[in-house]
Amino acid sequence: MRINGRDYRTIWLDSDGRRVHVIDQTGLPHRFETRTLASCEDAAEAIRTMTVRGAPLIGVTGAYGVALAAWSDPSDAAIESAHAALLATRPTAVNLRWALDRLRALLLAAPVSARAGLAYAEAAKIAEEDVAACQAIGRFGAELIHKARCDDGPINILTHCNAGWLATVDWGTALAPIYTAARQGAPIHVWVDETRPRNQGASLTAFELLGEEVPHTIVADNAGGHLMQHGLVDLVIVGSDRTTRAGDVCNKIGTYLKALAAHDNGVPFYVALPSSTVDWRIADGVRDIPIEERSAREVTHISGRGADGAPIEIQLTPDGSAARNFGFDVTPSRFVTGLITERGVCAATEEGLRGLFPDLGG
Ligand code: MRU
Repeated sequence: MRINGRDYRTIWLDSDGRRVHVIDQTGLPHRFETRTLASCEDAAEAIRTMTVRGAPLIGVTGAYGVALAAWSDPSDAAIESAHAALLATRPTAVNLRWALDRLRALLLAAPVSARAGLAYAEAAKIAEEDVAACQAIGRFGAELIHKARCDDGPINILTHCNAGWLATVDWGTALAPIYTAARQGAPIHVWVDETRPRNQGASLTAFELLGEEVPHTIVADNAGGHLMQHGLVDLVIVGSDRTTRAGDVCNKIGTYLKALAAHDNGVPFYVALPSSTVDWRIADGVRDIPIEERSAREVTHISGRGADGAPIEIQLTPDGSAARNFGFDVTPSRFVTGLITERGVCAATEEGLRGLFPDLGG
């Protein structure tokens, strides 16, 4: 993506080939800054504080975290400890475990002296795979968008949270079809859910769409049902943090309510995801996907930037009221029209996923 006249990915290596650079997403849309990750601890901190976020990007950052650990100490104990520390940062997105397991298996089977080099190469490979997967998701999803057009007006697409290039290495999952179709000339308008409490839609998705010059409107989270009842949404496309082999989809809190509203109004509800987001070990998402619970302060307070650009926080709730902050919810597969993957679009079922990925999942 192009920012301030320069092409960026969300994560890249320093010219020394060791340290890692990321975009600090906590400052967006007001302040574009990058951070340097010089150690495994830095990588874990960046994931925990949501300096980087989004399932695929968390996975790639985790992989580089193991590489940073292997560079300073390639012993079995250090690799195991990096794996455990990085895995403990955020529980829901399965891409993190997928990437960490991949690095650990590779490194523990290799001679100690070769581990650091192998780790950086594997992390870079995961990053490149993610870019290729997102580009393919973009191509397959764009076909659906073109087909959704039924009159001369714009195609109205609703999305939740941020599943754009900031959530991946580049392109995004749910936004990749939008960018691809828009570049192919489709007249698109995006309804952007603000996505309380961290407002990834209002801050990050809007920032991306503005940069790509895709017409969009930010709406309060609860507006989606109303928009669908009035025929103002042709298609919903969201991302996923973990998809079960049976097609249940876990995504940012509030996604489930959008799926229910889409179901009630006959609006197609698609989920875009790379295969690294599929957890083949589980089928029942409501029962088996761990849902991150974050600090209640994200609910009781709203944060942003003041006129001088400094961070500010405003309390919304009365002192003494309890609050809880569930980060994700699960949309059962019966409400999902289809999964847009890097190998094509399939039904949100075990047969659908295994049909596209017979080589994965054991
Ligand atoms: O808490 P976040 O911002 O990491 O949550 C991100 C999402 O819920 C995205 O929709 C999901 O990771 C899919 S990203 C391609």
